[in-house]
Amino acid sequence: AAEKLSICCIGAGYVGGPTMAMIAKQCPDIRVTVVDINQARIDAWNSDKLPIYEPGLQEVVEEARGRNLFFSTNVAESIRDAQMIFISVNTPTKTYGIGAGRAANLEFVERCARMIAEHSDSGHKIIVEKSTLPVRTAEAVKRILASSARPGVSFDVLSNPEFLAEGTAVEDLLAPDRVLIGGESRDAVQTLVDVYGRWVPRAQILTTNLWSSELSKLTANAFLAQRVSSINAISALCEATEADVDEVASAIGTDSRIGPKFLKASVGFGGSCFQKDILNLVYLCEHFGLPEVAAYWEQVVQMNDYQKQRFTRRIVKTMFNTVSNKRIAVWGFAFKKDTNDTRESAAIYVCRDLLEERAQLTIYDPKVGLEQIKSELAYVMQNDPSRYGGDFEKLIDENVTVADSALAAAEGAHGVALLTEWDEFKELDYKKVYDAMQKPAFLFDGRNLLQHSNLTELGFEVHAIGKLC
Ligand code: NAD
Ligand code: UDX
Repeated sequence: AAEKLSICCIGAGYVGGPTMAMIAKQCPDIRVTVVDINQARIDAWNSDKLPIYEPGLQEVVEEARGRNLFFSTNVAESIRDAQMIFISVNTPTKTYGIGAGRAANLEFVERCARMIAEHSDSGHKIIVEKSTLPVRTAEAVKRILASSARPGVSFDVLSNPEFLAEGTAVEDLLAPDRVLIGGESRDAVQTLVDVYGRWVPRAQILTTNLWSSELSKLTANAFLAQRVSSINAISALCEATEADVDEVASAIGTDSRIGPKFLKASVGFGGSCFQKDILNLVYLCEHFGLPEVAAYWEQVVQMNDYQKQRFTRRIVKTMFNTVSNKRIAVWGFAFKKDTNDTRESAAIYVCRDLLEERAQLTIYDPKVGLEQIKSELAYVMQNDPSRYGGDFEKLIDENVTVADSALAAAEGAHGVALLTEWDEFKELDYKKVYDAMQKPAFLFDGRNLLQHSNLTELGFEVHAIGKLC
């Protein structure tokens, strides 16, 4: 059945773009069209400068684009022509009304379901939830489709959550730990299994019921984020006791039941998924009358907020309790290395709190520019302008600049805050960095990325996460 398949994906973002590019690359006979209402994004997908940075993505897109991979804003036509339609639109945290600050905003998903019903004029279509959704969303999607379907048109709904991580999207898609497909119709499930089966070993394609699949995505992210918050919690205790959090992490990580991955203490996790998905899980637990379960998971987010605040407080305290009018170089603004994504990056919150203390920030990130930085800061500062003397935009304009290298950012700075673990920060000429800075030359390694003893020898005063330097 897969041979003559035509696929449409609604949503050309961090998930829709790379995922569909990989399907198109691996299945040259399947026509894949990725659609979006954002014209600029579609134009970028059709250009040499893709809208997202992912190592290896350019090559995958170039191999398939124009052959069997297409990017378009013609949503209606693509829906009509496809037998399988992925919904890969954003599902951000609701900012208003019932569940504000916690529940997932499903308006974009519902709009997709209604568009699919409206533009499907014949036959049978398989609708695939690729977006991360609250458990039981498929029920709503099915009802919307059934209630607005044209005569003679029928639908199956599958859940196929995406587990790729940004920065490693191409390798994750090429060799996923598993692909998860939840559904009721065996034929529909088999059709999607046959697509992934072109390159993913069958044993790694798990099939479950719809609700297990939907819930597994939220659960996976909650468990992953929990590991980070757990090691970050221990990092605070390490700082109080002279234990070294990296030594503790490797000591516990050798226990095969715990495992070594995802135990890197940091300035706090970021990204568009972890916080949003945990808050969504918390909301669901409350909705289903499970306040103890909700409180348990909410603590993972609270610990992360604490970790971010703790880092800024430490900077201020170390720098003689004032950073007012001092220049601080911020190295890295993306939420992790190898991505240009800054959504929920810990850097946003650290920079915001440093601006509140009236510091002057010079930021360098190899993939993030000034406009993006300013808009992220304005977004988090607009809620409480009084904290920033009323005019937060002026505060940003006057105190945030960007540099075009890490060294240039450090020029004349009283301190450096390393917030993203970009590889290039490991290879800098730290003698030059030291000479360029004011003294004492404070360096706050929010990722435990650097060789601290070498830096201390050069004269830096180094502060890291969960250890004495
Ligand atoms: P994104 O914001 O990068 O992309 C979503 C795209 O959908 C946007 O370009 C938007 O214009 C488009 N869109 C919204 N409504 C539309 C409509 N009605 N018609 C056409 N296009 C529409 O989001 P993303 O990071 O790709 O995430 C998408 C989903 O995947 C979310 O549910 C997210 O939780 C999930 N997810 C994300 C990641 C990740 O690493 N970013 C990983 C796994 C799962
Ligand atoms: C995550 C999940 O890993 C992925 O499976 C899901 O599909 C989407 O959400 P992503 O947010 O892209 O992926 O990146 P991830 O590698 O999980 O990192 C998330 C955040 O946690 C980053 O800010 C990262 O720096 C931080 N982190 C991760 C740590 O601080 N320590 C770690 O040990 C691991």
